[in-house]
Amino acid sequence: MASWTSKLSRWAEKRWDLKEVLTPILDTEVTDYKQKVRFCWGGMTFALIVIELATGIFLAYYYQPSVKGAFQSIVFITDQVHLGWLIRGIHHYASYLIIVTVAVHTLIVFFRGAYKPPREMTWVSGVFLLLLCFAFSFTGYLLTWDQRGYWATRIGTGMASEIPLIGEYLMIFLQGGYGVKQPTIIRFYVSHVIVLPILLIGLLIAHFFMIRRQGVKEPF
Ligand code: HEM
Repeated sequence: MASWTSKLSRWAEKRWDLKEVLTPILDTEVTDYKQKVRFCWGGMTFALIVIELATGIFLAYYYQPSVKGAFQSIVFITDQVHLGWLIRGIHHYASYLIIVTVAVHTLIVFFRGAYKPPREMTWVSGVFLLLLCFAFSFTGYLLTWDQRGYWATRIGTGMASEIPLIGEYLMIFLQGGYGVKQPTIIRFYVSHVIVLPILLIGLLIAHFFMIRRQGVKEPF
């Protein structure tokens, strides 16, 4: 008896002729050298990003982006919501792992010389992806609205304010005024769950498109 997945794919195939669209995207040769660990760090980063998006959507159902509600909603997620502690823990630790995997990926790409033409734009898109990873961490840190998050943000926005000429404007833009207060939580929340994910998805599409068009650089 045909499995439900093959039944489903036959059903979709009859209606939309998906094979024609998907074959050029999915049909790629995975040569022996691509199966080495050094080629896996970009993919590991991507897998972790998918985990972050899924667990982040779950957290967003309960999180309250306000001075009064933020910390309480975090406590509620951890203590009251079924498996909330686990989902929150995965979101928290996967964010640290992303920094590790993306750093290793960057170093490996650099030492393999894979940033050289014709892959320089893949590298440039990667630099923006790296900055986005840091921006996710920075904005996410404040959302718990505990002492650690508050002071880390004060230090971050304080450093931004030291930039010559634009420093003060940048600090006001990041904080939504003087001081880390209610407008700051809203700004960081909107950045963390809307603006940064849109930029991330756009850049990932560009990154993957270039990698698929050019292929991964041959080993050393
Ligand atoms: C969100 C973060 C990122 C994801 C999900 C990601 C994903 C990937 C994947 C899956 C590959 C193909 C396999 C591999 O070499 O691992 C790749 C290749 C590449 N990545 Fe990234 N990447 C990210 C960040 C970066 C960063 C920060 C840089 C550099 C600044 C970068 C530069 C490159 C380059 C140049 C290649 C081509 C490597 C080659 O042809 O050998 N990527 N990336």
